[in-house]
This record gives sequence, structure tokens and C-alpha cells, in this order.
Amino acid sequence: MANITLGSAFFLNPAISAFTCSFSVPRAAINKMSQHLVNAFLPMTADSVLNGILVVANPPEGWRAGTEDGAMTAGPHPMHARAERLAAQALAFDRIGKAYDEAFPHKEGQLAAGEWLTERLQPGARVLDVGCGTGVPTARQLADAGCDVTGIDISEGMLDLARREVPGATFLRLDVADVPDVGPSRGGFDAIVAFFSLLMLPRAEIPSTLRRLYDLLDPGAYFLLSMVEADLDDVPIRFLDCPMRVTGYPGAELRALVGEAGFEVLDLRHLSYAPADPEMPPEVQLFIYSRRPAKRRRRR
Ligand SMILES: C[S@@+](CC[C@H](N)C(=O)[O-])C[C@H]1O[C@@H](n2cnc3c(N)ncnc32)[C@H](O)[C@@H]1O
Repeated sequence: MANITLGSAFFLNPAISAFTCSFSVPRAAINKMSQHLVNAFLPMTADSVLNGILVVANPPEGWRAGTEDGAMTAGPHPMHARAERLAAQALAFDRIGKAYDEAFPHKEGQLAAGEWLTERLQPGARVLDVGCGTGVPTARQLADAGCDVTGIDISEGMLDLARREVPGATFLRLDVADVPDVGPSRGGFDAIVAFFSLLMLPRAEIPSTLRRLYDLLDPGAYFLLSMVEADLDDVPIRFLDCPMRVTGYPGAELRALVGEAGFEVLDLRHLSYAPADPEMPPEVQLFIYSRRPAKRRRRR
């Protein structure tokens, strides 16, 4: 027999935990049913680790959906793996907190990109800051210039700092993959900035994330992206004494990826950067200045 519990992750909240239900079924009968349950619910459980929506507890050993013949195979479901990965990245940034700004105190490239952007935006322009971190310097710079800034991040610790640093902006705990449609019809941002946040995603997720961000922009709106130049895919490192996984691209490859998502790349700037801590290696930062074309064009 195996127990299955469906319900909210907020088990400590009686109002919500009232929606949970448990039932026991023979293991022999569970395989077919588990396939449907996994297919139906796991896309949500991935988010539940972060957002607390739904949990499937006590799964039979070796659950895994999506095999061609419907059979169970060993290993974690990819959505579980993704959720665990996100939770680990969020925890690392919760722990890093203010130390991030101390390690990277002079953000010339980022400030220059922000200035370039504000020169092109009208007061009140809606800007999404993806992986906003502490809100410094970018959300603050944009808010000070009169933009209506929404910052998203998966780390509650970083968001707490950002809310204190930039009280005039809105900060939401959200994975970049989950940004809901906003605006009257779709998207509706005048600009999106993603400074050193997409480097926290594996390469497999970056093209779809770029396309998602494209869809959230109005035609003609700007997209600024920065990454560290490196040929890496989801490599485990220690960063400010915390374990995390990072991804990078050579500049030309990153430029091509942004173009393939539909953006018109206006400029690619390289900047040599030395972190404050002499133990941290110098890096080459890439800044892509781009925009969603005013007229729809076919994505490659
Ligand atoms: C290296 S910091 C950069 C912070 C800020 N953009 C800056 O340049 O100062 C990366 C930030 O991205 C956030 N992040 C990582 N993965 C994310 C995801 N999937 N969705 C949203 N934010 C994410 C981290 O929590 C962290 O605050």
C-alpha cells in the first residue's frame, strides 16, 4: 500500500490544509494512476516548492512521467529536479543578501545600461526588473528616473532588501518562468532588464525564457540583458561561500540567442570587471542592448 496526499504545502495553515486529502491504494494499482497524477499535477508541484501551491507526498519509489510506453522509470521527475534547483538557488541568495552588493560595489556597466534606457523612456514607463536582487542599483535607478518598476526575484531575502532600498517600486517573489501576462491585452512592459539573473538558469531554459520576455514587451520596447562571458552550462560553483549553479555564453553566442528569440540587437558591449574581493576572479561582463521590433517579425 502507498499513501498519496494531495493538497497545499501550507500544512501549518489550517484553512488551507483543510483542502488536503489522503488515501491509500495498493501499489500494484498505483502505476497507471500515478502516471496520470504525475502528468496532471507535477507541472504545478514544481512551483509549489517555491510558491506553496500543491504537494504530492509519499510517491512510490522511482516515479517518473513521460516515458513513451507509460512505464515508470527510476529517477526524479524533471519538474521536481527543476523545483529543487530553484529552491537551492533561492536559498543561496537568501544567505548572500547584502554581501552581493558588497562584493560588486561598482556596477558601471549596469548603471550605464540603466542610463541608456531611461534616456529612451517616458516618465511612468513600465519596467520589469528580472532577478532584481537587492534593487540596487537598477530598480532604484529606474524608479528615481520616474519609471514604474516591478522587480521579481525568487529569493525572499533579496526581495526584503529591495523593498527597503526602493520603497517606490513593486517587488514580487516570482520565478522568471512564471511572470503572468500583464496589461490590458498581453505583456505591456515598456522595457525589461535582466542583469546577471539569467545566468542562474540552465541553457535549456534560456531560449524559452527569452521568448517569454519578448512576449511581455510592447512592440518597440527595450530589453537589456547582462551575463558573464563564459562557455558554461549549469556548472556548480561556490559564490560568496554559497553553492550555486551558473551558465554563461561567449558574447557572439549570446547575441545570436537574443536575436533568435525575435529581438533586434542594437549593441553588445564587453566590460572587464574586477569584484571587490581579490579572491574572486576578474570577469568579462556582456551587456546586450536590444528591443522588440516595432513590427512583428518571424522568430528563427
Ligand atoms: C547575480 S544576482 C543579480 C541581482 C541584480 N539583478 C543585480 O544585477 O544587482 C541574480 C538574482 O537573480 C535571482 N534569480 C535567480 N534565478 C531566478 C529566477 N528563476 N527567477 C527570478 N529571479 C531569479 C537571484 O535570486 C538573484 O537575486
